[in-house]
Amino acid sequence: MERIKSGVPGLDGLMEGGVPKGSITILAGNTGSGKTIFGTQFIHNGAVQYNEKGVYATLEEDAATFKENMRRFGFNLDQLEKSGKIMILDHEMLRSGGLDVNLRFITEKMRDLKATRLVIDSLTAFLAACEEKLAYRSALYLMHDQLKGNEYTTLMTVSVPSGSQTLGMGIEEFMADGVIQLENVVQELEIRTRFVIRKMRGTGHSRKFHRVMFLPSGLEIVPFTS
Ligand SMILES: Nc1ncnc2c1ncn2[C@@H]1O[C@H](COP(=O)(O)OP(=O)(O)OP(=O)(O)O)[C@@H](O)[C@H]1O
Ligand SMILES: [Mg+2]
Repeated sequence: MERIKSGVPGLDGLMEGGVPKGSITILAGNTGSGKTIFGTQFIHNGAVQYNEKGVYATLEEDAATFKENMRRFGFNLDQLEKSGKIMILDHEMLRSGGLDVNLRFITEKMRDLKATRLVIDSLTAFLAACEEKLAYRSALYLMHDQLKGNEYTTLMTVSVPSGSQTLGMGIEEFMADGVIQLENVVQELEIRTRFVIRKMRGTGHSRKFHRVMFLPSGLEIVPFTS
């Protein structure tokens, strides 16, 4: 099985070298737990280290703010975009159509760029128009069919309110091939972030919680080894 490396330090070794190529992974997490930084590392490292182009759909922050925030970690997304290695799509560009129009827009851009990595940040915002569970469920399956039929490896963030026992509407996790979670935990007078792989179809993976460090260069997973 071909693997797609995230390049996030400490991570790929926890899942036999990377996420399976062509898979859809949900990156669930509380607010501020590092979902956007993680997604950016996936796209940035793809372009810089692995010669794989990527599309980042930012639906919670506009493209300019997103790029500025990520620059703090040394990710020069502007430059990568100018050199045609990545493309950033934001709400401005996606707002016109309905869900299937937006989805087609994204997949067209993927094809134009010959991109193989896709991040949707967040799935929660992307599906915000679906108020009813039934509409939400069919939208999810539409996304699944559109994205799985291709060669892309997709990462979709899902915001999880702290203390919540379910992820999104409780159906996202079944649609995805993999679910990885970032979790903020209060310890004494500090919030720490931990990481766990809840599932990853077709591959062995760690079932332990690992520490997440926020470094000037981005996130790093510190594997728990005992
Ligand atoms: N320059 C920085 N150096 C170190 N840590 C930072 C820096 N900038 C942001 N952070 C940390 O990263 C967190 C934000 O990470 P990120 O935006 O990836 O979270 P998120 O899970 O996407 O949050 P949201 O739910 O709001 O989208 C901040 O809350 C802060 O703790
Ligand atoms: Mg975010």
